[in-house]
Amino acid sequence: MKGIVFTEFLDLVEDKFGLEMVDKIIQQSQLESNGIYTSVGTYKFSEMLQLLQHLSENTNISIDDLLLVYAEHFFSVLETSYPGLIATYNDPIEMLASIENHIHIEVRKIYPDAELPTFEVVNKTDNSLIMIYKSSRAMHHFGLGLMNKTFEHFNSTATIVLEKIKEDGTEVKFIINKN
Ligand code: HEM
Repeated sequence: MKGIVFTEFLDLVEDKFGLEMVDKIIQQSQLESNGIYTSVGTYKFSEMLQLLQHLSENTNISIDDLLLVYAEHFFSVLETSYPGLIATYNDPIEMLASIENHIHIEVRKIYPDAELPTFEVVNKTDNSLIMIYKSSRAMHHFGLGLMNKTFEHFNSTATIVLEKIKEDGTEVKFIINKN
């Protein structure tokens, strides 16, 4: 997992819960990196999982809810860091339907070792989209947060329903309807 995902995560934890919480979750985890991340480095996903688990235990907020809020913050990082990529689009459904065959392809050119999910488009109309998310990392709520913000970016909103295909969240159907 790319360092930018860790640095932005710990910045947000500091912002919302204070520096003591950042220190606490780092101390509670077994981290090869010792909790020292640079935005261009690459670290084990298991480190993110431990940080999330401990934050969840310390705050009584579910990992899914933490990932949702984090993704909403991460979207603004993407807007700042990759304005050109988002500017290719003028419609949220078009943008989301292009994650697999455009957006994340460009991401892979920048970060060849990025660990990305797959999003298979099952059905698409002007106002709706059905996609299957697959990833061993089960970060579907991170996807949900990015989707919410994608609609907001285009001054729009949507109703998004998640249906787990696999109980462990490694395969999830997203049913997206523009409001
Ligand atoms: C992960 C870039 C848009 C869904 C990532 C990562 C990067 C990235 C750098 C981390 C990879 C790693 O740590 O190895 C971008 C950029 C985007 C974009 C530059 C747009 C400009 C989106 C959108 C979605 C999305 C709109 C909506 C669903 C995800 C998910 C992950 C991810 C769910 C977590 C990894 C996983 O589930 O396996 N993306 N992304 N991305 N991205 Fe994107």
